[in-house]
Amino acid sequence: MLANLKPQDPDKILMLIEEFKADTRQGKIDLGVGVYKDPQGVTPVMRAVKAAEQRIWDEQTTKAYTGLAGTPEYRAAMAEMVLKDVPADRLASVASVGGTGAIRQGLELARLANPDVTVHVSDPTWPNHLSIMKFMGLPFTQYRYFDNETRGVDFDGMKADIAKAGKGDIVLLHGCCHNPTGANLSMDQWTEVAEILEKSGAVPLIDLAYQGFGDGLQEDAAATRMLASRLPEVLIAASCSKNFGIYRERTGILMALGTDTAARDLAQGSMAFLNRQNFSFPPDHGARVVETILTDAELRADWAAELEEVRNTMLGLRTQLAGELRDLSGSDRFDFIANHRGMFSRLGATPEQVEALKADAAIYMVGDSRLNIAGLNKDTVPVLARAIVDAGI
Ligand code: LMR
Repeated sequence: MLANLKPQDPDKILMLIEEFKADTRQGKIDLGVGVYKDPQGVTPVMRAVKAAEQRIWDEQTTKAYTGLAGTPEYRAAMAEMVLKDVPADRLASVASVGGTGAIRQGLELARLANPDVTVHVSDPTWPNHLSIMKFMGLPFTQYRYFDNETRGVDFDGMKADIAKAGKGDIVLLHGCCHNPTGANLSMDQWTEVAEILEKSGAVPLIDLAYQGFGDGLQEDAAATRMLASRLPEVLIAASCSKNFGIYRERTGILMALGTDTAARDLAQGSMAFLNRQNFSFPPDHGARVVETILTDAELRADWAAELEEVRNTMLGLRTQLAGELRDLSGSDRFDFIANHRGMFSRLGATPEQVEALKADAAIYMVGDSRLNIAGLNKDTVPVLARAIVDAGI
């Protein structure tokens, strides 16, 4: 049986991790996978996470199962973090296996509700969105998003394309910090997106993997909150991997907002059912850490402060890189790096140029020229800027 398996294409982002590890050159720079690194190149365990883990270790008396949906306390804390004003009469939610698990369950939920669903997804998007949909055999189409000339959003193209999504289709949106481009919508543009979806009856599935990494914890959730309050139905897949730095704990949540309590209860039952079919109970440790932090004023304040440090470090690196590139290139064509938000920016370089950066300068980024800003520090920024200009980008 096993001999009948076909080799699977390796994930391009995860493959880079291995390639980077195997590179023996001094001074190599990893701008690949989306993991935050501090200026010393370490992905730290956040202070509040350590304190919460200590508290859990001291106080936890059982590892018995929780519930198929995860604990109500975790789900309530996450709903408050994401939505602020939680419409309890409309909200169904389940803890998930990371943000990726929430995306997968959201897509499965959409297909359960509408077997003819088509998913509309940005061009480009996180490659795993496409990979999951292909694996599920889910029909999808890509809407225009990134303008390679301006390195901003092609908003007219986006509007025209998402308007084609029909009632009951899914429009997958990045709630903030677009991955892989770093180019984001303004609030006015989000309002226009809401109007289009209101008219068509297409349902947004909002991927919120970087809340707190762009303009701030509240600011990054503003578009999601607006869509949730305006539209009758909204799906949200939120991740705690990045903003709590608990990548390997696989902590996320899928939320579904319906029109009334009946729709909410149907969604809640279906989402718990999907958890049961796929893995039974969601992992608890990360969820408990998050719940402990969010429900304790002191821990929450410390976590929010450290998250702000992380965000400001990335913003500083963006400003520094854009400045170095302005000086070296004698032009403002890289200013978009300072305007982008989140962990990533798409440089707009060709695959050959990305290869040249790797071969000549030991600088690793994803082949579509997505670079992880958090992989830099103030000493490597000038090295990258020089290499970009030398590669003729
Ligand atoms: C990324 O885009 O680099 C991250 O979301 C990590 C991953 O799983 O791909």
